[in-house]
Amino acid sequence: MECIVINGGRPLQGLVAASGAKNSALAVMAATLLCSGEHRISGVPELCDISTMKRLLEHLGVRITGSADLRLDATHIDIVDAPYELVKTMRASFLVLGPLLARFGNARVSLPGGCAIGLRPVDIHIKALEAMGAHISIENGYVNAFCERMRGARILFDMPTVGGTENIMMAACLADGVTVIENAAREPEIIDLAAALRSAGALITGDGTGTITIEGVRQLAPIVHTVMPDRIEAGTLLIAGAITEGDVTVENCPVAYMGATLEKLRDIGCIIDESENCARIRADRGLKPVEVTTSPYPGFPTDMQAQLMSLLTLAGGTSLIRETIFENRFIHVAELDRMGARIRVERDCAVVTGVEQLEGARVMASDLRASASLILAGLAARGTTVVSRIYHLDRGYEALEEKLRRLGADIRREQE
Ligand code: EPZ
Repeated sequence: MECIVINGGRPLQGLVAASGAKNSALAVMAATLLCSGEHRISGVPELCDISTMKRLLEHLGVRITGSADLRLDATHIDIVDAPYELVKTMRASFLVLGPLLARFGNARVSLPGGCAIGLRPVDIHIKALEAMGAHISIENGYVNAFCERMRGARILFDMPTVGGTENIMMAACLADGVTVIENAAREPEIIDLAAALRSAGALITGDGTGTITIEGVRQLAPIVHTVMPDRIEAGTLLIAGAITEGDVTVENCPVAYMGATLEKLRDIGCIIDESENCARIRADRGLKPVEVTTSPYPGFPTDMQAQLMSLLTLAGGTSLIRETIFENRFIHVAELDRMGARIRVERDCAVVTGVEQLEGARVMASDLRASASLILAGLAARGTTVVSRIYHLDRGYEALEEKLRRLGADIRREQE
Protein backbone atom coordinates (compact mmCIF):
# COMPACT_ATOMS: atom_id res chain seq x y z
CA MET A 1 0.00 0.00 0.00
CA GLU A 2 1.10 3.54 -0.64
CA CYS A 3 1.41 6.36 1.86
CA ILE A 4 2.15 10.06 1.62
CA VAL A 5 5.10 11.49 3.47
CA ILE A 6 5.13 15.21 4.26
CA ASN A 7 7.84 17.31 5.87
CA GLY A 8 5.75 20.18 7.14
CA GLY A 9 6.34 23.82 7.85
CA ARG A 10 6.90 25.25 4.37
CA PRO A 11 4.67 28.16 3.36
CA LEU A 12 3.00 27.32 0.04
CA GLN A 13 3.20 29.91 -2.67
CA GLY A 14 2.13 30.32 -6.27
CA LEU A 15 -0.53 29.40 -8.78
CA VAL A 16 -2.45 26.18 -9.00
CA ALA A 17 -5.50 25.16 -11.03
CA ALA A 18 -8.52 23.22 -9.79
CA SER A 19 -9.55 20.21 -11.87
CA GLY A 20 -13.02 19.33 -13.12
CA ALA A 21 -15.54 18.45 -10.41
CA LYS A 22 -15.57 14.77 -9.52
CA ASN A 23 -19.16 14.77 -8.26
CA SER A 24 -20.41 16.55 -11.34
CA ALA A 25 -18.47 14.36 -13.78
CA LEU A 26 -19.80 11.16 -12.17
CA ALA A 27 -23.42 12.24 -12.61
CA VAL A 28 -22.90 13.45 -16.19
CA MET A 29 -21.20 10.16 -17.07
CA ALA A 30 -24.20 8.22 -15.69
CA ALA A 31 -26.50 10.43 -17.77
CA THR A 32 -24.93 9.14 -20.99
CA LEU A 33 -26.97 5.95 -20.45
CA LEU A 34 -30.09 7.93 -21.35
CA CYS A 35 -29.53 7.74 -25.10
CA SER A 36 -27.55 6.15 -27.91
CA GLY A 37 -24.85 7.96 -29.87
CA GLU A 38 -21.47 9.38 -28.92
CA HIS A 39 -21.48 11.71 -25.92
CA ARG A 40 -18.60 14.16 -25.39
CA ILE A 41 -17.64 15.21 -21.88
CA SER A 42 -14.62 17.47 -21.34
CA GLY A 43 -12.80 18.52 -18.20
CA VAL A 44 -13.14 15.11 -16.58
CA PRO A 45 -10.61 14.70 -13.73
CA GLU A 46 -8.36 11.64 -13.74
CA LEU A 47 -9.04 9.93 -10.44
CA CYS A 48 -10.13 6.54 -9.14
CA ASP A 49 -13.87 7.22 -8.80
CA ILE A 50 -13.97 8.26 -12.46
CA SER A 51 -12.17 5.00 -13.39
CA THR A 52 -14.76 3.08 -11.38
CA MET A 53 -17.61 4.83 -13.21
CA LYS A 54 -15.87 4.06 -16.52
CA ARG A 55 -15.62 0.38 -15.52
CA LEU A 56 -19.30 0.30 -14.60
CA LEU A 57 -20.42 1.96 -17.84
CA GLU A 58 -18.17 -0.36 -19.88
CA HIS A 59 -19.64 -3.33 -18.02
CA LEU A 60 -23.08 -2.15 -19.17
CA GLY A 61 -21.86 -1.86 -22.77
CA VAL A 62 -20.78 1.78 -23.15
CA ARG A 63 -17.68 2.21 -25.33
CA ILE A 64 -15.36 4.80 -23.83
CA THR A 65 -12.27 6.51 -25.22
CA GLY A 66 -10.19 9.44 -23.95
CA SER A 67 -9.47 10.60 -20.43
CA ALA A 68 -9.89 14.34 -19.74
CA ASP A 69 -11.96 14.59 -22.94
CA LEU A 70 -14.19 11.56 -22.82
CA ARG A 71 -16.12 10.06 -25.71
CA LEU A 72 -18.81 7.67 -24.52
CA ASP A 73 -20.88 5.69 -27.00
CA ALA A 74 -23.94 4.33 -25.23
CA THR A 75 -25.60 2.90 -28.35
CA HIS A 76 -25.23 -0.78 -27.49
CA ILE A 77 -26.17 -1.42 -23.88
CA ASP A 78 -25.85 -5.17 -23.32
CA ILE A 79 -27.06 -5.49 -19.74
CA VAL A 80 -28.86 -3.32 -17.21
CA ASP A 81 -27.24 -4.76 -14.12
CA ALA A 82 -24.88 -2.80 -11.82
CA PRO A 83 -23.08 -5.40 -9.69
CA TYR A 84 -22.27 -5.18 -5.99
CA GLU A 85 -18.50 -5.25 -6.64
CA LEU A 86 -18.66 -1.87 -8.40
CA VAL A 87 -21.44 -0.20 -6.39
CA LYS A 88 -19.78 -1.05 -3.05
CA THR A 89 -16.55 0.52 -4.33
CA MET A 90 -18.34 3.75 -5.19
CA ARG A 91 -21.83 4.79 -4.12
CA ALA A 92 -22.27 7.15 -7.07
CA SER A 93 -22.72 3.96 -9.14
CA PHE A 94 -26.31 4.03 -7.88
CA LEU A 95 -26.85 6.97 -10.27
CA VAL A 96 -27.19 4.54 -13.18
CA LEU A 97 -30.57 3.35 -11.82
CA GLY A 98 -32.66 6.33 -13.01
CA PRO A 99 -31.21 6.51 -16.56
CA LEU A 100 -31.33 2.72 -17.14
CA LEU A 101 -34.90 2.46 -15.93
CA ALA A 102 -36.07 5.43 -17.99
CA ARG A 103 -34.44 4.21 -21.23
CA PHE A 104 -34.85 0.43 -21.00
CA GLY A 105 -37.80 -0.03 -18.64
CA ASN A 106 -35.84 -2.19 -16.24
CA ALA A 107 -32.66 -2.20 -14.19
CA ARG A 108 -30.96 -4.23 -11.48
CA VAL A 109 -28.64 -2.17 -9.31
CA SER A 110 -26.94 -3.27 -6.13
CA LEU A 111 -27.85 -1.39 -2.96
CA PRO A 112 -24.75 0.57 -1.94
CA GLY A 113 -24.79 -0.44 1.74
CA GLY A 114 -23.23 1.63 4.53
CA CYS A 115 -20.23 3.89 4.26
CA ALA A 116 -17.47 5.11 6.60
CA ILE A 117 -19.14 8.52 7.01
CA GLY A 118 -22.71 7.36 7.65
CA LEU A 119 -25.61 5.08 6.81
CA ARG A 120 -26.40 6.89 3.57
CA PRO A 121 -29.68 5.18 2.63
CA VAL A 122 -31.25 5.48 -0.85
CA ASP A 123 -34.89 5.27 0.27
CA ILE A 124 -35.72 8.71 -1.14
CA HIS A 125 -34.48 7.71 -4.64
CA ILE A 126 -36.60 4.55 -4.51
CA LYS A 127 -39.76 6.24 -3.21
CA ALA A 128 -39.55 8.85 -5.96
CA LEU A 129 -39.03 6.30 -8.74
CA GLU A 130 -42.08 4.42 -7.42
CA ALA A 131 -44.08 7.65 -7.55
CA MET A 132 -43.09 7.79 -11.24
CA GLY A 133 -44.61 4.36 -11.86
CA ALA A 134 -41.64 2.05 -11.27
CA HIS A 135 -42.22 -1.33 -9.62
CA ILE A 136 -39.36 -1.90 -7.25
CA SER A 137 -38.41 -4.89 -5.17
CA ILE A 138 -35.31 -5.48 -3.12
CA GLU A 139 -33.89 -8.98 -3.36
CA ASN A 140 -30.51 -10.31 -2.27
CA GLY A 141 -29.14 -6.82 -1.78
CA TYR A 142 -30.22 -5.65 -5.23
CA VAL A 143 -32.84 -3.13 -6.33
CA ASN A 144 -34.90 -4.71 -9.11
CA ALA A 145 -36.87 -2.06 -10.94
CA PHE A 146 -39.12 -2.19 -13.96
CA CYS A 147 -41.61 0.10 -15.58
CA GLU A 148 -43.38 0.03 -18.95
CA ARG A 149 -42.81 3.74 -19.21
CA MET A 150 -41.92 6.23 -16.49
CA ARG A 151 -44.53 8.92 -15.94
CA GLY A 152 -44.08 12.43 -14.62
CA ALA A 153 -45.04 13.01 -10.98
CA ARG A 154 -44.96 15.64 -8.26
CA ILE A 155 -42.32 14.55 -5.80
CA LEU A 156 -41.55 16.04 -2.41
CA PHE A 157 -38.20 14.96 -0.99
CA ASP A 158 -38.00 14.48 2.79
CA MET A 159 -34.57 16.06 2.58
CA PRO A 160 -32.66 17.64 -0.27
CA THR A 161 -30.58 14.68 -1.43
CA VAL A 162 -27.97 15.40 -4.11
CA GLY A 163 -27.87 11.88 -5.58
CA GLY A 164 -31.66 11.53 -5.30
CA THR A 165 -32.21 14.79 -7.19
CA GLU A 166 -29.78 13.65 -9.89
CA ASN A 167 -31.31 10.17 -10.26
CA ILE A 168 -34.87 11.51 -10.52
CA MET A 169 -33.91 14.43 -12.77
CA MET A 170 -32.30 11.98 -15.22
CA ALA A 171 -35.21 9.51 -15.11
CA ALA A 172 -37.73 12.31 -15.58
CA CYS A 173 -36.08 13.46 -18.82
CA LEU A 174 -37.57 10.45 -20.65
CA ALA A 175 -40.80 10.13 -18.63
CA ASP A 176 -44.28 10.82 -20.01
CA GLY A 177 -45.37 14.26 -18.81
CA VAL A 178 -43.99 16.67 -16.27
CA THR A 179 -42.08 15.87 -13.09
CA VAL A 180 -41.72 18.44 -10.34
CA ILE A 181 -39.15 17.78 -7.62
CA GLU A 182 -39.77 19.82 -4.50
CA ASN A 183 -37.19 20.26 -1.77
CA ALA A 184 -34.64 19.37 -4.46
CA ALA A 185 -30.93 19.72 -3.75
CA ARG A 186 -29.56 23.07 -4.97
CA GLU A 187 -25.89 22.06 -5.23
CA PRO A 188 -23.92 23.50 -8.19
CA GLU A 189 -23.34 19.94 -9.44
CA ILE A 190 -27.12 19.69 -10.00
CA ILE A 191 -26.98 22.83 -12.14
CA ASP A 192 -24.07 21.32 -14.06
CA LEU A 193 -25.92 18.04 -14.65
CA ALA A 194 -29.00 19.96 -15.79
CA ALA A 195 -26.84 21.92 -18.26
CA ALA A 196 -25.42 18.65 -19.61
CA LEU A 197 -28.92 17.19 -19.97
CA ARG A 198 -30.14 20.35 -21.70
CA SER A 199 -27.29 19.99 -24.20
CA ALA A 200 -28.98 16.68 -25.09
CA GLY A 201 -32.39 18.29 -25.53
CA ALA A 202 -33.84 17.78 -22.02
CA LEU A 203 -36.42 20.29 -20.83
CA ILE A 204 -35.41 21.25 -17.31
CA THR A 205 -36.05 24.46 -15.39
CA GLY A 206 -35.49 25.49 -11.79
CA ASP A 207 -32.18 23.69 -11.25
CA GLY A 208 -30.27 25.52 -8.54
CA THR A 209 -33.56 26.21 -6.70
CA GLY A 210 -35.58 23.95 -4.41
CA THR A 211 -38.14 23.23 -7.15
CA ILE A 212 -36.99 21.58 -10.37
CA THR A 213 -39.40 20.97 -13.24
CA ILE A 214 -38.62 18.42 -15.94
CA GLU A 215 -40.82 17.95 -18.99
CA GLY A 216 -40.21 14.50 -20.41
CA VAL A 217 -39.22 14.14 -24.07
CA ARG A 218 -39.44 11.03 -26.31
CA GLN A 219 -35.74 10.95 -27.04
CA LEU A 220 -32.51 12.75 -26.17
CA ALA A 221 -29.46 13.46 -28.33
CA PRO A 222 -25.88 12.83 -27.16
CA ILE A 223 -24.54 15.10 -24.42
CA VAL A 224 -21.85 17.68 -25.22
CA HIS A 225 -20.59 19.21 -22.00
CA THR A 226 -17.59 20.57 -20.11
CA VAL A 227 -17.63 19.69 -16.43
CA MET A 228 -17.60 22.58 -13.93
CA PRO A 229 -14.47 23.11 -11.78
CA ASP A 230 -14.28 21.27 -8.47
CA ARG A 231 -15.31 23.65 -5.68
CA ILE A 232 -14.20 21.21 -2.95
CA GLU A 233 -10.76 20.68 -4.46
CA ALA A 234 -10.44 24.47 -4.91
CA GLY A 235 -11.39 25.01 -1.25
CA THR A 236 -8.88 22.36 -0.15
CA LEU A 237 -6.08 24.09 -2.10
CA LEU A 238 -7.01 27.47 -0.59
CA ILE A 239 -6.80 25.98 2.90
CA ALA A 240 -3.39 24.53 1.98
CA GLY A 241 -2.29 28.13 1.39
CA ALA A 242 -3.85 29.38 4.62
CA ILE A 243 -2.65 26.61 6.94
CA THR A 244 0.97 27.08 5.83
CA GLU A 245 0.79 30.89 6.18
CA GLY A 246 1.39 31.08 2.47
CA ASP A 247 0.08 32.92 -0.56
CA VAL A 248 -1.76 30.68 -3.01
CA THR A 249 -3.85 31.56 -6.04
CA VAL A 250 -6.31 28.95 -7.31
CA GLU A 251 -7.29 29.26 -10.95
CA ASN A 252 -10.30 27.59 -12.53
CA CYS A 253 -11.88 28.29 -9.14
CA PRO A 254 -15.72 28.37 -9.12
CA VAL A 255 -15.89 31.31 -6.69
CA ALA A 256 -19.56 31.95 -7.43
CA TYR A 257 -20.36 28.56 -5.86
CA MET A 258 -17.97 28.86 -2.92
CA GLY A 259 -19.69 31.63 -0.95
CA ALA A 260 -20.02 29.80 2.38
CA THR A 261 -16.44 28.48 2.27
CA LEU A 262 -14.86 31.82 1.33
CA GLU A 263 -16.92 33.66 3.94
CA LYS A 264 -15.80 31.25 6.68
CA LEU A 265 -12.16 31.57 5.62
CA ARG A 266 -12.48 35.36 5.83
CA ASP A 267 -14.11 35.10 9.28
CA ILE A 268 -11.10 33.03 10.37
CA GLY A 269 -8.85 35.90 9.30
CA CYS A 270 -7.62 34.85 5.86
CA ILE A 271 -7.26 37.53 3.21
CA ILE A 272 -9.00 36.48 0.03
CA ASP A 273 -9.02 38.31 -3.29
CA GLU A 274 -11.44 36.88 -5.78
CA SER A 275 -12.28 37.41 -9.41
CA GLU A 276 -14.64 35.49 -11.67
CA ASN A 277 -12.75 32.20 -11.72
CA CYS A 278 -9.75 32.83 -9.52
CA ALA A 279 -9.16 33.20 -5.78
CA ARG A 280 -5.99 34.20 -3.93
CA ILE A 281 -5.55 33.45 -0.24
CA ARG A 282 -3.04 34.82 2.23
CA ALA A 283 -2.92 34.11 5.92
CA ASP A 284 -0.64 34.37 8.89
CA ARG A 285 -0.90 33.19 12.46
CA GLY A 286 -3.51 35.04 14.44
CA LEU A 287 -6.32 32.96 12.96
CA LYS A 288 -9.62 33.43 14.73
CA PRO A 289 -11.96 30.68 15.96
CA VAL A 290 -15.40 30.35 14.33
CA GLU A 291 -18.64 28.41 14.56
CA VAL A 292 -19.55 26.35 11.51
CA THR A 293 -22.57 24.21 10.75
CA THR A 294 -22.59 22.01 7.67
CA SER A 295 -25.79 22.14 5.67
CA PRO A 296 -27.06 21.58 2.13
CA TYR A 297 -25.98 24.16 -0.47
CA PRO A 298 -25.79 27.14 -0.20
CA GLY A 299 -24.75 26.33 3.38
CA PHE A 300 -21.26 25.27 4.41
CA PRO A 301 -20.47 21.99 2.59
CA THR A 302 -19.94 18.81 4.58
CA ASP A 303 -17.23 17.98 2.04
CA MET A 304 -15.14 20.93 3.39
CA GLN A 305 -15.72 20.20 7.08
CA ALA A 306 -12.65 18.05 7.71
CA GLN A 307 -10.31 20.42 5.85
CA LEU A 308 -11.63 23.48 7.72
CA MET A 309 -11.19 21.62 10.98
CA SER A 310 -7.48 21.17 10.26
CA LEU A 311 -7.14 24.94 9.82
CA LEU A 312 -9.10 25.63 13.02
CA THR A 313 -6.76 23.44 15.07
CA LEU A 314 -4.32 26.36 14.74
CA ALA A 315 -6.76 29.22 15.49
CA GLY A 316 -6.39 31.22 18.69
CA GLY A 317 -9.39 30.03 20.68
CA THR A 318 -12.21 27.51 20.62
CA SER A 319 -14.20 26.74 17.46
CA LEU A 320 -17.40 24.73 17.17
CA ILE A 321 -18.09 22.57 14.14
CA ARG A 322 -21.51 21.01 13.81
CA GLU A 323 -21.99 18.25 11.21
CA THR A 324 -25.62 17.87 10.19
CA ILE A 325 -25.39 15.89 6.93
CA PHE A 326 -23.60 12.66 7.86
CA GLU A 327 -23.72 11.02 11.28
CA ASN A 328 -20.14 9.71 11.34
CA ARG A 329 -18.03 12.33 9.66
CA PHE A 330 -15.58 13.04 12.49
CA ILE A 331 -13.28 10.02 12.07
CA HIS A 332 -10.39 12.37 11.25
CA VAL A 333 -10.62 13.90 14.74
CA ALA A 334 -8.71 11.10 16.49
CA GLU A 335 -5.98 11.30 13.84
CA LEU A 336 -5.69 15.11 14.12
CA ASP A 337 -5.46 14.69 17.91
CA ARG A 338 -2.50 12.34 17.34
CA MET A 339 -0.83 15.31 15.64
CA GLY A 340 -1.25 17.46 18.73
CA ALA A 341 -4.66 18.98 17.96
CA ARG A 342 -7.13 19.47 20.82
CA ILE A 343 -10.52 18.37 19.58
CA ARG A 344 -13.31 16.67 21.44
CA VAL A 345 -16.52 15.41 19.91
CA GLU A 346 -19.89 15.77 21.59
CA ARG A 347 -22.61 14.11 19.52
CA ASP A 348 -22.77 16.05 16.21
CA CYS A 349 -20.38 18.78 17.41
CA ALA A 350 -16.60 18.97 17.38
CA VAL A 351 -15.08 21.41 19.84
CA VAL A 352 -11.71 22.51 18.50
CA THR A 353 -9.35 24.32 20.85
CA GLY A 354 -6.57 25.93 18.89
CA VAL A 355 -2.96 24.93 19.60
CA GLU A 356 0.31 26.74 18.83
CA GLN A 357 1.75 23.99 16.67
CA LEU A 358 0.83 20.60 15.18
CA GLU A 359 3.41 17.82 15.32
CA GLY A 360 4.11 15.32 12.55
CA ALA A 361 2.88 11.77 13.21
CA ARG A 362 1.83 8.57 11.47
CA VAL A 363 -1.88 8.89 10.74
CA MET A 364 -4.47 6.93 8.84
CA ALA A 365 -6.98 8.21 6.29
CA SER A 366 -10.56 6.95 6.68
CA ASP A 367 -12.37 8.62 3.79
CA LEU A 368 -11.71 11.06 0.99
CA ARG A 369 -12.06 14.40 2.80
CA ALA A 370 -10.49 13.03 6.00
CA SER A 371 -7.41 12.18 3.90
CA ALA A 372 -7.29 15.75 2.63
CA SER A 373 -7.57 17.13 6.17
CA LEU A 374 -4.63 15.01 7.34
CA ILE A 375 -2.49 16.15 4.42
CA LEU A 376 -3.34 19.78 5.23
CA ALA A 377 -2.42 19.22 8.87
CA GLY A 378 0.83 17.55 7.76
CA LEU A 379 1.74 20.57 5.61
CA ALA A 380 1.54 22.80 8.69
CA ALA A 381 2.99 20.38 11.25
CA ARG A 382 6.53 20.42 12.63
CA GLY A 383 8.41 17.34 11.44
CA THR A 384 7.29 14.42 9.34
CA THR A 385 3.75 13.20 8.83
CA VAL A 386 3.00 9.88 7.15
CA VAL A 387 -0.57 9.47 5.93
CA SER A 388 -1.46 5.86 5.18
CA ARG A 389 -4.48 4.32 3.38
CA ILE A 390 -4.02 6.98 0.76
CA TYR A 391 -6.28 5.14 -1.71
CA HIS A 392 -9.09 7.20 -0.17
CA LEU A 393 -7.39 10.37 -1.43
CA ASP A 394 -6.85 8.94 -4.89
CA ARG A 395 -10.58 8.36 -5.24
CA GLY A 396 -11.35 12.05 -5.42
CA TYR A 397 -8.33 14.32 -5.90
CA GLU A 398 -6.46 14.60 -9.19
CA ALA A 399 -2.70 14.68 -8.60
CA LEU A 400 -3.03 16.51 -5.27
CA GLU A 401 0.50 15.90 -4.10
CA GLU A 402 1.92 17.06 -7.44
CA LYS A 403 -0.09 20.26 -7.21
CA LEU A 404 1.09 20.83 -3.62
CA ARG A 405 4.69 20.08 -4.57
CA ARG A 406 4.56 22.73 -7.28
CA LEU A 407 3.43 25.19 -4.60
CA GLY A 408 6.54 24.36 -2.57
CA ALA A 409 5.39 21.50 -0.32
CA ASP A 410 7.85 18.76 0.66
CA ILE A 411 5.52 15.86 -0.08
CA ARG A 412 6.07 12.50 -1.70
CA ARG A 413 4.41 9.15 -2.19
CA GLU A 414 6.08 5.99 -0.91
CA GLN A 415 5.38 2.29 -0.65
CA GLU A 416 4.64 1.33 2.94
C1 EPZ B 1 -23.30 13.65 -2.52
O1 EPZ B 1 -23.56 12.40 -1.88
C2 EPZ B 1 -21.81 13.72 -2.75
N1 EPZ B 1 -21.41 12.60 -3.60
C3 EPZ B 1 -21.08 13.68 -1.42
O2 EPZ B 1 -19.70 13.85 -1.69
C4 EPZ B 1 -21.57 14.83 -0.54
O3 EPZ B 1 -20.97 14.72 0.73
C5 EPZ B 1 -23.08 14.77 -0.39
O4 EPZ B 1 -23.71 14.74 -1.70
C6 EPZ B 1 -23.66 15.94 0.38
O5 EPZ B 1 -23.30 17.14 -0.24
C7 EPZ B 1 -21.59 12.67 -4.91
O6 EPZ B 1 -22.09 13.64 -5.45
C8 EPZ B 1 -21.11 11.53 -5.73
P1 EPZ B 1 -27.08 13.08 -0.26
P2 EPZ B 1 -25.04 11.85 -1.79
O7 EPZ B 1 -28.00 12.10 -0.89
O8 EPZ B 1 -25.77 12.22 -3.01
C9 EPZ B 1 -29.58 11.39 3.43
C10 EPZ B 1 -17.38 13.51 -1.31
O9 EPZ B 1 -16.56 13.53 -0.37
N2 EPZ B 1 -30.33 10.57 2.47
O10 EPZ B 1 -27.25 14.51 -0.60
O11 EPZ B 1 -24.94 10.42 -1.44
C11 EPZ B 1 -28.12 10.96 3.56
O12 EPZ B 1 -27.96 9.87 4.42
C12 EPZ B 1 -18.76 12.97 -1.11
O13 EPZ B 1 -17.10 13.88 -2.47
C13 EPZ B 1 -31.38 9.77 2.91
O14 EPZ B 1 -31.70 9.74 4.10
O15 EPZ B 1 -25.57 12.65 -0.54
C14 EPZ B 1 -27.49 12.23 4.06
O16 EPZ B 1 -27.70 12.34 5.45
C15 EPZ B 1 -19.00 12.14 0.05
N3 EPZ B 1 -32.06 9.01 1.98
C16 EPZ B 1 -28.30 13.34 3.37
O17 EPZ B 1 -29.51 12.71 2.94
C17 EPZ B 1 -31.76 9.03 0.66
O18 EPZ B 1 -32.42 8.33 -0.12
C18 EPZ B 1 -27.63 13.95 2.15
O19 EPZ B 1 -27.16 12.91 1.30
C19 EPZ B 1 -30.70 9.85 0.22
C20 EPZ B 1 -30.00 10.61 1.14
